[in-house]
Order: sequence, then C-alpha cells, then structure tokens
Amino acid sequence: MTRDDRPAPTAPTTLAALADAVRDRMPQTIAELSELVRIPSVSWDGFDPAHVAASAEAVAQLLRGLGVFDRVDIVSAPIPGTDHTGQPAVLARREPKNGRPTVLLYAHHDVQPPGDDALWQSPPFEPTVRGDRLYGRGAADDKAGVIAHVAAIRALIDTVGDPDVGIVVFIEGEEEFGSRSFRALLDAHRETLAADVIVVADSDNWTTEIPSLTIGLRGNAAFTLTISTLAHASHSGMLGGAAPDAMLAAVRLLATLHDEDGSVAVAGLTSHEQEVPADDLERFRHEAGLLEGVSPIGRGALLHRVWAQPAITVTGIDAPSVQNASNTLQPSVSVKISARVAPGQSAAEAFEAIRDHLLAHAPFGAHLEFGQVDLGNPFLVDTSGWGADEALQAMRDAWGAEPQLTGVGGSIPFIADLAEVFPDAHVLVTGVEDPESRAHSPNESLHLGVLRRAILTEAVLLARLSERAPATDVH
Ligand code: BES
Ligand code: MN
Ligand code: MN
Repeated sequence: MTRDDRPAPTAPTTLAALADAVRDRMPQTIAELSELVRIPSVSWDGFDPAHVAASAEAVAQLLRGLGVFDRVDIVSAPIPGTDHTGQPAVLARREPKNGRPTVLLYAHHDVQPPGDDALWQSPPFEPTVRGDRLYGRGAADDKAGVIAHVAAIRALIDTVGDPDVGIVVFIEGEEEFGSRSFRALLDAHRETLAADVIVVADSDNWTTEIPSLTIGLRGNAAFTLTISTLAHASHSGMLGGAAPDAMLAAVRLLATLHDEDGSVAVAGLTSHEQEVPADDLERFRHEAGLLEGVSPIGRGALLHRVWAQPAITVTGIDAPSVQNASNTLQPSVSVKISARVAPGQSAAEAFEAIRDHLLAHAPFGAHLEFGQVDLGNPFLVDTSGWGADEALQAMRDAWGAEPQLTGVGGSIPFIADLAEVFPDAHVLVTGVEDPESRAHSPNESLHLGVLRRAILTEAVLLARLSERAPATDVH
C-alpha cells in the first residue's frame, strides 16, 4: 500500500529500545508461552472444563504480574438458549492518561482438540522447540496471541515506565467452540471493554518475513445432518440393491454440493468481489500438502477461492467403522458439515441456501434432520482510518518489510459483534501465525522469529498510541 498520508516512522531510539526489551525477554516469553501450552484448554463439550479454568487463571496471573492494570478479572456469561455458562474469559483494564487513546487487545486461550496423538512428532501438550519453531496445540492458535499481548505490554513498561495509553486485555475462553457467550460478555462488560482501537491477534502473516494486516475474513455455517432411509438395519445381501441404505443416500446427497471441478454448487451462496495477489501454485501446493497429481478445486484465482468464495466441507461422519463394517444396510448416517461464507453474505442466509439445497436434493425420499447449527458472520475491515495506518507503520518499523493486506479463509465470527457494539473503534486483525503453523492440525507450531516480530509490532503500536495527540484523534 502506498499512501502519501503515511504516518511518520517510529523514532529510531524508541524502536531500538523496544527491540532490545523484546529480545532480552524472549527466553521468559517462550517459557511463559510453554506453560500455557501445557494446559490442555480445549473448550469443546465433552472436554474437562477444569483445564480451561486453569488456563484462564494462568492468563490472569500473567496479566496481574505486569502490574499496570486497575483490575484483572475472570469473567463468564450465560450461553443464550441454554442453561449453561460460557467458558471463562480474562478481562483487564487500565484507564488512559492525558487524553490518549485506549486499545483493546484480544486473543483466546482455548484450543482445538489435539486429534490423534500418534500423528504428533512430540506430544501436543508438551511444548517442544525444534529448529525455529515451538510445537504444541495452541502454540500458535492462539496462546501465541495471548503471550504477544503480555510481552508487548512488558516491553513497553521496560522502555517507557508508566505509559499514557489506556489498555484493555480481553482473552476469551471459547473462541474454538463458536464464541457462544461472547455477545453476553460484551453486553455485561461494555464499559470495561470500550476502546478506540481493537487489536485482534488471532490471524496469520504472509510469510515468516512479511507481516499481514488481515482485512477480510470468511464467515462460517456449521451443522449436523442426519440422513435416514430405513426403520432398521438389514442384511445387505437379503435386501441390498432394492432397499436404499442411508450411506448411499448420504454419498449421493453430499456429492450434489459440488460441481465436477470441486466448486460449490449451491444456488444462493454468493462470492465477494475482491482483488487478490497473483497465483503462486507451487506455494499453494506446498502449504496445502497436495499429493503428486492432485489438483486444486474451484475456479478463479487461488486466493480468491479461499478468501472470497464460499466453501463446503464434510468434516465428520458417524457410520460404522471399517473394522466393524458388517454386511449391513445402514438405516441412518450422520455427518458434520462446515461451510465458509464469503464476505458480503450473512451466515444465516448462507445456511438457508445450503439447507434448501439439501432438502431439494435428498435422494430416494430420504429423511433429513438438521441440528447443532452454528453461524458466524464474515467481516471486512475498514482500512481507511488512522488505526490501520498506525498498525501498518508499526509493522514496517518492527519487521523492516512492507506489510501485505490479506484476506483469510478462516473465521473470527465475534469480530462482527465487536464492530457492531463499538462502531467507532478501529478494528485491526493481526496475528502470530505463518503459512506453516498448521493450526487445528497435528504438529501445530509457532515460528519464534514471527513471535518476536509480532511482539515488537504490538509494542511499537502501543508506544505510538501512548504518544498520539488527542487533537488528531479523528476517525
Ligand atoms: N484463528 C482462527 C481463525 C483464523 C483461521 C485466522 C485461519 C486466520 C487464518 C480461529 O481460532 C478459528 O479457528 N476460528 C474458527 C471459528 C469457528 C470455530 C466458529 C474457524 O475458522 O474454524
Ligand atoms: Mn484462533
Ligand atoms: Mn482456531
């Protein structure tokens, strides 16, 4: 991005002092991150919530240890439509001084389940450094985001003492389970959360050497679908070929969701018009791990497919395992479907389009039952304000490279809620991941150089905001 109203670079002495502070503290920072990774804080149903509580407590301790907050609390709120309480979040605040802005720093301390332990080179909850990277579940997504906030604030204090900037830290405990109590938390703590700038450290970077400011995210629409054709199971030799089994119905039905080339074939799902960087097929093949001879799916520029078009993925299936597969016609099969929604369309509208498509295409009169619908809206960041300019300048200063404005195919659904509740705040989506991080997958990892540069970026941003003249504070 080239704009003639770019803010001035950070003073070299300030930048150098912050860089030294961040570098000197890296061993401590990595040790603190490792302690967080040791806590298996999976927020999903069916996983022990005591670990999420322990992880909230550990995060609160780190924040209290900084000694700059007026308050550090562990908070939770009810999940609408249920009689459950959401997972604990950590909320800290210090007021600004001398009319300086307040910045809200967001990350999440919950993680995805580790999956099959056997697929990990080192155990998922034993943080392990190999080469430039720290491996472990949550090492990148998003305990690195948590630690980036802690370390950036510490570098600021090390360097300038008691800064003027107001700081709110909000570390959520159930982002990976759909942020179901997020809105209730927002409503309950609206005044504590109020800020001029919101930094969401939960996204990725263009490469390990080039930072990204994320400007667009897809939404999500996930649900379960049970497909039933028979009142009971039967011997597949007795009736197979005449009685439609649910697996056949499921396979045929799911196959209607995509065209021959793998692009989504559901009427009513929309794409977003968006410029994207030119295709780099080799990079794409490498990042996705495409096997020899396997080609990408979809149409248009590769990154347009990922950032700006819908996607539908079957992520789970309940049916007899191969080991238990007897010669039986299955009466019903359940699947989990996870769809991505392009910016510009609401998740509710996208879900309706998919549901209507499935109902219209059910083969053999199969019965369909939908459940566990989880919707999150896409988001487009407004990059026209001073907040984005400040963040881009902080990235230039900290990385010594021109940042790339990117979309991401993943979802951070609560950002739309944040922007709705705080319409005047500058929302900045940053992160500590890189293309090799493999979030959600076995062998998730964090690049330690990226961590250091992300911390420095945030420290620089905080220092800049701490000196930002109130008079120029126009949106
Ligand atoms: N950090 C991710 C979002 C993300 C993914 C950002 C890829 C940048 C690149 C976040 O933790 C996440 O996994 N979100 C979920 C949301 C879902 C649980 C509602 C997702 O995208 O699947
Ligand atoms: Mn995340
Ligand atoms: Mn995630």
